[in-house]
Amino acid sequence: MAKLRIDGNEIEVPDHFTLLQACEDAGAEVPRFCFHERLSVAGNCRMCLVEVKGGPPKPQASCAMSVRDIRGGPNGELPEVFTNTPMVKKAREGVMEFLLINHPLDCPICDQGGECDLQDQAMAFGIDTSRYQEDKRAVEDKYIGPLVKTVMNRCIHCTRCVRFTTEVAGISELGLIGRGEDAEITTYLEQAMTSELQGNVVDLCPVGALTSKPFAFTARPWELNKTESIDVMDAVGSAIRVDTRGREVMRILPRVNEAINEEWISDKSRFIWDGLKTQRLDRPYVRRDGRLQPATWAEAFGAVKAAVGATSGEKIGAVAGDLASVEEMYALSELVKSLGSVNLDCRQDGAALDPSLGRASYLFNPTISGIDQADALLIIGANPRFEAAILNARIRKRWRRGKFPIGVIGERTELRYSYDYLGGGPDTLKDLVDGTHAFADVLKNAARPLIIIGQG
Ligand code: SF4
Ligand code: FES
Repeated sequence: MAKLRIDGNEIEVPDHFTLLQACEDAGAEVPRFCFHERLSVAGNCRMCLVEVKGGPPKPQASCAMSVRDIRGGPNGELPEVFTNTPMVKKAREGVMEFLLINHPLDCPICDQGGECDLQDQAMAFGIDTSRYQEDKRAVEDKYIGPLVKTVMNRCIHCTRCVRFTTEVAGISELGLIGRGEDAEITTYLEQAMTSELQGNVVDLCPVGALTSKPFAFTARPWELNKTESIDVMDAVGSAIRVDTRGREVMRILPRVNEAINEEWISDKSRFIWDGLKTQRLDRPYVRRDGRLQPATWAEAFGAVKAAVGATSGEKIGAVAGDLASVEEMYALSELVKSLGSVNLDCRQDGAALDPSLGRASYLFNPTISGIDQADALLIIGANPRFEAAILNARIRKRWRRGKFPIGVIGERTELRYSYDYLGGGPDTLKDLVDGTHAFADVLKNAARPLIIIGQG
C-alpha cells in the first residue's frame, strides 16, 4: 500500500494504482478521455493533468504516473497531489482548447449528444471561447461495417478503440496511421470490422466519432426509458440496459457486472433489438387445403382448440424455443400439464443434456470470473468465440496474463488466442483420459484446471 495526500486529504491506496485512480479514491474528480480501467495506459489526451508537489514545475498526466513514482518531502512528509489548483485549472482549459481546435462542434447533429464525454468535460473544465479562426482539419469517414458508424472529423485520437480491439477483442482491426495533422483512425485498408465485440467501441469512444449505425438519428438519450435487464442471446446472461421509447426498444447497452460481462457485451446482444420489429411474423396463419393462409386470431385459436380437442393428452407434446422467456415456458408447461401430457422439452437442437445427470452437467460450474483463477484450460466441442463471445473475452484476458496452456478438442478455429490443437474427436479424448496424450500432464500438473464442454 502507498500513502499520499490528495488535495490535503491523506489516503492509502494499493501500490499499483495510478495517480488518477488514487485521486478518484480520495473523491476528487479527474477528467479523462484516453484512460480506461480495463485498457492499457496510453497517456495521449492529457486531460487528466494534476499538480504534483515537489515534482517538475509542470502539470503531470495522472493516468500515466503511478503512486510509486512520486516522492515525499525531505522530512518524511507524504507525497502530495493537487487536482484543484490554478495550475491544474489552466492546464485543463488549455488541453480542452487544443482538443477542440479541430473538433467540428456539430453536437446538434451528433448521435453522441447528451452522453458525450467531450461535451460534458468541455462544459465542466473548458472555457467558453476559442482563439482559433483557422479552417478545421477534415478527415474522410471510413466504412467499417454495418454496425459502427464513423464520423472521423470528431475523433480526438484517444486510441481507446484501437486498444480495445487489440487487447480485449484480440484482433488488430483498428489502428492510428499518419502523424500530427494527418493522424487518423482507420481499419488500414478500409475493411469492415469482423470482431464479434466491435459494438463496445461505440461505448468506449468518448466523442461521436464511433456511434451505433442501426441507432443513428433515431432518438436522443434523454428521451429513452432505461430498464435494467439480463441478456438472453447467449447462455452468459450479460447485464444489460434496455432503452425504450414508448413501446419500442431503441437500443441495448451493457451494465457493469464484474462476475459476468465486466462492461462488455457481444454484438449479438447489442444489436438484436431490430429483430423485435423488422421481419416479424405479425399475423397468425392456418393451414387450409395444404397451404398456410392468413387468418384472424380467433380462427387461429379455434384451429388450435379443434386440434387439441381431437387428440388425447399423451399424444400432445410441446417444445420451447431458445428465446422463450421463463414466464412463457412456465405457462406452456402448465398448459401441457392441464392437457394431460408430460411431453415437454426445450432441446429442439438435439442437445445431449440429461437432467438425470444433475445440474452440474450443464451449468458453467467454475463461474465466468473463475476463469481468472484457472491455470490450464481444455475446450471440448465448443467455439466460445461464436457461442459466447464475452466468455471468450474472459478466456483471452486470462491468456494475456500468461502461463495459461489451452488445449482444444473439436473444430479448429480462430479463437483470438493461441492454443494447442489436440484433435478432432473422441480418440483424442480417450488418449487424454488414458494419459498417453502430452496435454494430460498439463492438466494433471495444473492446480486449478478448467474444462469447458460444449454442445459438440
Ligand atoms: S474513434 Fe473515438 S475511441 Fe477511437 S481514437 Fe477516435 S475518439 Fe478515440
Ligand atoms: S487520461 Fe491521462 S492522458 Fe488521457
